[in-house]
Amino acid sequence: MKIKKKHFCGVLSKKDIGFEVSVAGWVKRRRDHGGLIFVDLADRSGLVQLVFDPAVDKEVHSLAHSLRDGWVIAAEGKVFLRPPESVNPKIPTGEIEIKVERVDVLNTSLPLPFSVEDETDVNEEVRLKYRYIDLRRPVMQKNIQLRYRVAKATRDFLDKRGFIEVETPFLTRSTPEGARDYLVPSRVNPGEFYALPQSPQLFKQMIMVAGFERYFQIVRCFRDEDLRADRQPEHTQIDIELSFVDEEDIFELIEGMLKYIFESTKGITIPVPFPRLSYQEAIERYGSDKPDIRFGMEIKDFSFLGEEGKFRVFQEIVKRGGCIKGILLSGGSSLSRRELDELKLWVVNHGASDLSWFVFKEKVTSPLVKFYPQSTIDRLVKVSGAKDGDTLFLTAGEKDVVCRALGELRIYLAKKFELIPRGKYSFLWVVDFPLFEKDEMGNLSSVHHPFTSPREEDIPLLETNPERVKAKAYDIVLNGEEIGGGSIRIHKRELQERIFELLGISKVEAREKFGFLLNALSLGAPPHGGIAMGLDRLVMIIAGEKSIREVIPFPKTQKAICLLTQAPSRVDEEQLKELHIKLDLE
Ligand code: AMO
Repeated sequence: MKIKKKHFCGVLSKKDIGFEVSVAGWVKRRRDHGGLIFVDLADRSGLVQLVFDPAVDKEVHSLAHSLRDGWVIAAEGKVFLRPPESVNPKIPTGEIEIKVERVDVLNTSLPLPFSVEDETDVNEEVRLKYRYIDLRRPVMQKNIQLRYRVAKATRDFLDKRGFIEVETPFLTRSTPEGARDYLVPSRVNPGEFYALPQSPQLFKQMIMVAGFERYFQIVRCFRDEDLRADRQPEHTQIDIELSFVDEEDIFELIEGMLKYIFESTKGITIPVPFPRLSYQEAIERYGSDKPDIRFGMEIKDFSFLGEEGKFRVFQEIVKRGGCIKGILLSGGSSLSRRELDELKLWVVNHGASDLSWFVFKEKVTSPLVKFYPQSTIDRLVKVSGAKDGDTLFLTAGEKDVVCRALGELRIYLAKKFELIPRGKYSFLWVVDFPLFEKDEMGNLSSVHHPFTSPREEDIPLLETNPERVKAKAYDIVLNGEEIGGGSIRIHKRELQERIFELLGISKVEAREKFGFLLNALSLGAPPHGGIAMGLDRLVMIIAGEKSIREVIPFPKTQKAICLLTQAPSRVDEEQLKELHIKLDLE
């Protein structure tokens, strides 16, 4: 390399005019204007225009003819003001250009699989296969740099608050976080497996027993679960644990941390403290345990429609203990009959038994209007707050099912009608979760994880009505995404053993799987609690992206495949033999 890079392309400006600079990067575009050849040179900082002028150097100019998109070059020359007609106000270096005196071709490139522009119509598979090209796109460079900034702000903030980052093993035992484990066979212990951690939950508790008091770690977690836009097989958590704290300490810490992250990465001041909603209220008002509160459209109760009037279906449902609930769509009266029918189908596919509507426009129209007297219709208008041009959607049935279906419809309609304000960040704590949920077989399972403490005042209910026990657990929600969750932990052995029992984990199994935890709890475990934030989801929202794949350098597809390396892949027979593994691929 004869030319040494001394300057970043994208930061050169008018103040550099007259100076010699040396830049290096990738050819983005070459334009041959007869005599002059223009090349946009890109590096991580942005673009600068190089000009190859035969009057400056004939040889360098003729070499410029051969430059192609994606070639790697270094160039030296003087910075000049561009002539007024070629100023480009769209880019920061648009007023200047470098007249190249020397150039080094550091590498050539085959034609690129797609162009390195923000706007791309190439499909995601191609982007992931050539991720290193995709990552050259300015938007991806920005996202990955933002991710670093968020991680750095987190570290700076927690360091100032007296936290230290402690590493925990990847080759470990299973931690129950509700997903399947990724297993790693042990060569030296035939027939035995490590599990990759679904989270460092038990290790961070051990770190508290070890007396560190304030731990954090930005750490990869591995979960074999169905993938979606906000889920990856390996995701990154900002994992935090503290001793001698209660829920309020954790709320204050995380609010301060997020405020610091938003200020230092976006220059945005977010108001604290964040509002709080009980789990029950979140479901009843928004039909979701991670409500998006950037907009209203709250679920309201219309069960009086099963008591008044003559609509049999509603009457039956209310008599059987069900309810009628609805959401009001402002401006929804423009929906055609066909669109309303499509919505009905959509809601039914999301678990509801049916969808009814009332359209408020001059007069009230609905297939149900004939069943009700004017007084009920007036009540409907009053309770819903309907104005001319609105549509009320109603569904009836069991409360939880009704709320969840309306919750889905609320989001669907808000997106369709663009009711969600842009550039708004609405944080929310969801609290008062039940400790357990019951499956169809009547078995209890943990809503969070089995190490979550019940509320002290609810401990007696463990013996009588465990389903009513509330947990000292909390989730943090941002714009309808669960960006974190945590709890105060059980720090006494007897209580932990009782919870295992209620979860159907026998004493023998508890000792075998969690013996180390139980031992630690009987060897001076301090009261402790913590939280883990999903770094990928947080960065996704700050970046304004819709999928965490846009903020993860090397993500996997929905089928958990890395298209860049083609992992997972078959391995040699020899390797399997060493691991004492025989495949049965029927
Ligand atoms: P939890 O399971 O709620 O808690 O995870 C914490 C946060 O991690 C993020 N997250 C994910 N992000 C992307 N892909 C995934 N597959 C994925 N799974 C989870 C979410 C979630 O809120 N040990 C506990 C925390 C604690 O109790 O302290 C835990 O892991 O944003």
